[in-house]
Amino acid sequence: MKRIIIGHHTDIEERRARVVHVDGVEIAVFKLSGGGVRAIENRCPHKNGKLSEGIVCDHHVYCPLHDWKINLNDGLVQEPDEGCVKAYRAEIDGETGHIVLYVEQGEDSSIAS
Ligand code: FES
Repeated sequence: MKRIIIGHHTDIEERRARVVHVDGVEIAVFKLSGGGVRAIENRCPHKNGKLSEGIVCDHHVYCPLHDWKINLNDGLVQEPDEGCVKAYRAEIDGETGHIVLYVEQGEDSSIAS
């Protein structure tokens, strides 16, 4: 498990997302109302909509293209639609305030935003 710092929690507004690229995978890191963070792959399982541009409500995001509702905790598409996106562990470091993203990657992981 690789631990990647993607910025300070104040860098992202509530109900917005930051996009990072880790080894070719685009990941959207969301800040929820109240300050928690969640991370999922930035690609809707329907037709590849950019979930980072969706509307965040509680711990769900609505895809900007066709409004599928996706749970940010586990990446599961909500009924009546179905499917899932990969969810990643993300948290705010209590000491530094940095947002930390955890990915299962090799030692040569790289990050770009
Ligand atoms: S691409 Fe996301 S709902 Fe269609």
